[in-house]
Amino acid sequence: MQPLLLLLTFILLQGNEAGKIIGGREARPHSFPYMAFLLIQSSGGLTACGGFLVREDFVLTAGHCLGSSINVTLGAHNIQRRERTQQHITVLRAIRHPDYNHENFRNDIMLLQLRSRARRSGSVKPVALPQGSKKLQPGASCTVAGWGRVSQSRGTNVLQEVQLRVQVDQKCSSRFQFYDSQTQICVGNPRERKTAFRGDSGGPLVCNNVAQGIVSYGSINGSPPAVFTRIQSFMPWIKRTMRRLAP
Ligand SMILES: *[C@@H]1O[C@H](CO)[C@@H](O)[C@H](O)[C@H]1NC(C)=O
Repeated sequence: MQPLLLLLTFILLQGNEAGKIIGGREARPHSFPYMAFLLIQSSGGLTACGGFLVREDFVLTAGHCLGSSINVTLGAHNIQRRERTQQHITVLRAIRHPDYNHENFRNDIMLLQLRSRARRSGSVKPVALPQGSKKLQPGASCTVAGWGRVSQSRGTNVLQEVQLRVQVDQKCSSRFQFYDSQTQICVGNPRERKTAFRGDSGGPLVCNNVAQGIVSYGSINGSPPAVFTRIQSFMPWIKRTMRRLAP
């Protein structure tokens, strides 16, 4: 199990080639003003992840995107260009969930405290987080956005989006040994050739303008469904952490 999971991490971080071709499209520029592009320095070199602005000074992403240093780009459409809308901010603190498990990807969530506040603009704006205890229902239509791979010329440089539906938990529990319906969401219809891996790990699943999930992992060939971190179940930790680290 472990080698497979390590390999999965690698694929998600690099962007999945099979996923690139299936089901997504280029986003209208700046239609996802909360999207963050993360450049991560880790022992294995530079990698990329998605993330999303949840307050002027905090970005939410996946726990497995942790590295020794992380830089955030906000307000981008083409991440290979210097666009006037872009804001480049370094990360002051990366706070990974204390119960993150790198072997089974439970609690795959991390808050990044930015060194300086993001300036709100037409291209940079936080996204709402879940409120209350109503659980996201199977069948809900949601959007995932991401830049995919950046290090190879084959990758896309412009933001891509794909629409995906929330699945019943059984679709993931039958496929992924460690799927946990309390803290994870099963996303992407196996019969539609659309995949969550259009976006990088750490990108948001947004349903009705609320960020409900974080891209975590999927099957090795990139076929749906995939597993997302269920943000709602981590709201107490998110609120506590952002309050504790108030500027
Ligand atoms: C982040 O930005 C700083 C300052 O511009 C730079 O020195 C550093 O190498 C960057 N790190 C990564 C991971 O891109």
